[in-house]
Amino acid sequence: MEFKKNILCIGAGYVGGPTMAAIALKCPELRVEIVDINAERIRQWNSGDIPIFEPGLAEIVNQVRGKNLFFSTEIAEGIKKADIIFVSVNTPTKTFGEGAGMASDLQHWENTAHAIVAHSQGDKIIVEKSTLPVRTAEAMERILKARRGGIRFEVLSNPEFLAEGSAVMDLLEPDRVLIGAHRTPEGLAAEKELVDIYAHWIPREKIITTNLWSAELSKLVANAFLAQRISSVNAISALCEKADADISEIAYAIGSDSRIGSKFLNASIGFGGSCFQKDILNLVYICKSYGLTEVADYWELVVKMNEYQKRRFVQGIVRAMFNTIAGKKIALFGFAFKANTGDTRESPAFQVTRDLLEEHAYVAITDPQALGNAKQDLQGTNGRVSYESDPYKAAEDAYAIAVITEWEEYRHLDFERIYRSMKKPAFIFDGRNILDHGKLYEIGFNVYPIGKKALTHFE
Ligand SMILES: NC(=O)c1ccc[n+]([C@@H]2O[C@H](COP(=O)([O-])OP(=O)(O)OC[C@H]3O[C@@H](n4cnc5c(N)ncnc54)[C@H](O)[C@@H]3O)[C@@H](O)[C@H]2O)c1
Repeated sequence: MEFKKNILCIGAGYVGGPTMAAIALKCPELRVEIVDINAERIRQWNSGDIPIFEPGLAEIVNQVRGKNLFFSTEIAEGIKKADIIFVSVNTPTKTFGEGAGMASDLQHWENTAHAIVAHSQGDKIIVEKSTLPVRTAEAMERILKARRGGIRFEVLSNPEFLAEGSAVMDLLEPDRVLIGAHRTPEGLAAEKELVDIYAHWIPREKIITTNLWSAELSKLVANAFLAQRISSVNAISALCEKADADISEIAYAIGSDSRIGSKFLNASIGFGGSCFQKDILNLVYICKSYGLTEVADYWELVVKMNEYQKRRFVQGIVRAMFNTIAGKKIALFGFAFKANTGDTRESPAFQVTRDLLEEHAYVAITDPQALGNAKQDLQGTNGRVSYESDPYKAAEDAYAIAVITEWEEYRHLDFERIYRSMKKPAFIFDGRNILDHGKLYEIGFNVYPIGKKALTHFE
């Protein structure tokens, strides 16, 4: 079949895979290819068992793979053929040198720029899908323009707003799509090509077009604002526990104000995931590098509050369990950073496990999707960690359960059975406030929610 255009995506991860599957599904006249340096990941995408768990994604991939969606390690060949190249490689926090622990590590992104320059034989549109520091396109253009020979590259910014766990819905029915371009005739022409792709399924009024720098910066700001809501409600949860107020009642009361809104107001153990912390720290670093110390300090507190909330959770466990958990088995319900994903990057579960081990507890981890990643994350920890796909087994002989991930199935477990199998007095620390606390208390548990009065059977 003759395709109208060749789309290439460099980076077959949590963003590249789902976004390109959506484009392939909605634009059958386009040939979409995803390439990656990770041959194992490409093998998995080409197998019946795709490498990421995302509700609804496997069905779409099965529908379009081999028709107009292809996965490959042939990066040079892919670049040669492509009219439009999306770059969705990882941009983690730098762990070394200048800006370590804050700035974005752009080495993967820069490698793709060099590969594009080396293998291009004609004009191309380059689309930044990765989350990048503001004005990164300028650096990309410098690398691309270093090549002589009359090839034109037009760089666009098209940051991705999907959330893991709801990626398919977010892609098929997004609140908005954002495209940033230079406000030049060439920039606007490239912008129109990308708008036309999304317009296959997204109403035109939801496709926002801006200048390049606004688009790049909007992504960092969106994540900073979302994380700020979590840190704000978590800060108040600590106060609720002191003042006998109830964080769920407060969230409902304040969220009913349409200026505040009800979403993202669930108090919890804290946010995780590969994006929030890294993107805020990147924003902080950018502000510092512009000399905006107060602005940097303001946003950095969102991350510090998150660290505090995770620490506070484990301290609460130790305090409630008579100031010692040494030698006690604690069952962690969930290891993924949130429900409906197997992703454990920056999951609060990691710090909780580490802190519990430091207190010499035994930790039994259960999770419906993330046990493989959990084992990898905890490689090298001593033998006091065990992994159980069955939550009932994880809880057997445990002194406490700590709910880390808000998996729906945890609401529907038989807690009477669980209670019978546990050591007494039995504790539940609900780090997501998803369980029926009154019922658990009646069964016999000592229940410790976030931001609410604990329900205990002690005098
Ligand atoms: N995960 C999310 O929810 C999410 C949401 C929005 C935006 N983002 C952003 O999207 C980007 C990608 O995130 P992700 O979660 O998909 O990362 P990921 O680690 O899952 O995937 C990135 C992929 O790029 C590949 N890669 C790295 N260098 C390469 C190179 N030179 N050539 C070819 N492939 C290369 C890696 O092997 C990896 O498979 C990041 O900038 C992230 O901040 C992520």
